[in-house]
Amino acid sequence: MGFVSIETERNMMTKFWKEHSKFATVEEMMLDSNAQELTQHELPEILSLLPSLAASDVLELGAGIGRYTRHLIGKARHVTAVDFMEKFVEKNRKDNSHLGNTEFIQADVTKLDFPKHSFDVVFSNWLLMYLSDQELKSLAEKLLMWLRPGGYLFFRESCFHQSGDCKRDFNPTLYRSPAYYNHLMTSVLQDESEKTEKKCYGFDMVVNKTVQTYVKVKNNQNQLCWLMQKVRRDVVQQHQGGFSTFQEFLDNQQYTRRGILRYEKMFGSGYVSTGGISTTKVRDAEYIGSYIFRAAFWESFECALHSLIVQFEVSDATKRKFPDSTFDVVYSRDTILHIRDKLDLFRKFYSWLKPGGKLLISDYCCGEKPWSPAFQDYVNQRGYILYTPQRYGQFLSEVGFSNVRAEDRTEQFIQVIKAELQRAGEMKEEFIQVNTHLCATSTLHLQPHICMLLEEIIFPFFPSFLFKPHLQTLKTCFTFI
Ligand SMILES: C[S@@+](CC[C@H](N)C(=O)[O-])C[C@H]1O[C@@H](n2cnc3c(N)ncnc32)[C@H](O)[C@@H]1O
Repeated sequence: MGFVSIETERNMMTKFWKEHSKFATVEEMMLDSNAQELTQHELPEILSLLPSLAASDVLELGAGIGRYTRHLIGKARHVTAVDFMEKFVEKNRKDNSHLGNTEFIQADVTKLDFPKHSFDVVFSNWLLMYLSDQELKSLAEKLLMWLRPGGYLFFRESCFHQSGDCKRDFNPTLYRSPAYYNHLMTSVLQDESEKTEKKCYGFDMVVNKTVQTYVKVKNNQNQLCWLMQKVRRDVVQQHQGGFSTFQEFLDNQQYTRRGILRYEKMFGSGYVSTGGISTTKVRDAEYIGSYIFRAAFWESFECALHSLIVQFEVSDATKRKFPDSTFDVVYSRDTILHIRDKLDLFRKFYSWLKPGGKLLISDYCCGEKPWSPAFQDYVNQRGYILYTPQRYGQFLSEVGFSNVRAEDRTEQFIQVIKAELQRAGEMKEEFIQVNTHLCATSTLHLQPHICMLLEEIIFPFFPSFLFKPHLQTLKTCFTFI
């Protein structure tokens, strides 16, 4: 593709919207002939993903005719609604100005400016795909500046390809990949250092998921939305190894692409946990209680996967909010060892579960201290936060769960790991060949680590039945954290 100047690109985007803003209708907003039905379903879905807007100042970018503005006005202290098409702004003002404290601005967002810390929430529904890469980066930096610390950015975009069926003679829209937005948004920084204190801010992901309305109505998985939060990104917040976010630490240490491939080679395709399918699909008559529950979970999960009723989302479990009593089951496999504030997380689990709902966790625990220096080093390097099974169980009881069963499965996992160790030895050559980018020494290094784990880590314990009081039937609704 030839060189296109920033100005030409801007003119093309403006021309595109001039062509699609003649009638100021919902169909023009959504560029879809089925807009009436889509808007009815997607409005509540999108609004449910927003943080509380009570007493907040909201900036809405690319507000159009105000499909969302009217709902934001109802909830926020003040809304600033911006769009660059005159007809859209006029319609928005006419329909919604009487509803509350709102300012309607006709402006191109690339030319917009506000004082630092003006807003608590920035909302945009289909805007960023109408900005060039350079404009997007510059806007992301400004958004960080306009938001107050702890404030939220919500945006929703069409990814990969066009979603609406409206005819377009020319279409300069940029259908990016979700990974592009993830990378760009989490890498912008805003320096707000003061004389006495160095302060830097960035965006942390709260949630990134597909818009279910488009999955259900149009079988379209490419409508994605994001909720991000403005957080500190400086020495105060630094994670081990100098990484500025915990996600970066995990992505670059334990869960590199290479690391995941290594796990899969050991545990089976799709598994990053010891034992792979054998410790996931439990067939253990001895643990009849947990057997029934886990088998029920497994079968429902398989069934849900086949009928495509599973929703996948990238989210930070420590920040994600769900309404109270949303789920029948919360399940987590070998994950919570990464999370510092377990009590806070368990409180969330408790509130998300319906009365009688169940929690099933398997996780790595530890023995009583003192630990050997080698084990202490290993835990430090991984950044794990480990507790004994007893303490873990107490946390769960403290937040309100009843019938807490904390089972120490070390013996079972020692057997599993011994078998894996043997397999690792047998497939050493294949392992090296298949993962040509993995050097031989990394395979050999597996062994001492595993031996060390055998020595001191208490293996996944399964507090199998953790009830919220009051029994209720189990349905197939799972969340993955
Ligand atoms: C697909 S519509 C969505 C409108 C509204 N958010 C909704 O969901 O109903 C995209 C909107 O972004 C506006 N827009 C696109 N580029 C813009 C820019 N650079 N500055 C301001 N508004 C822009 C368009 O005029 C249009 O109203």
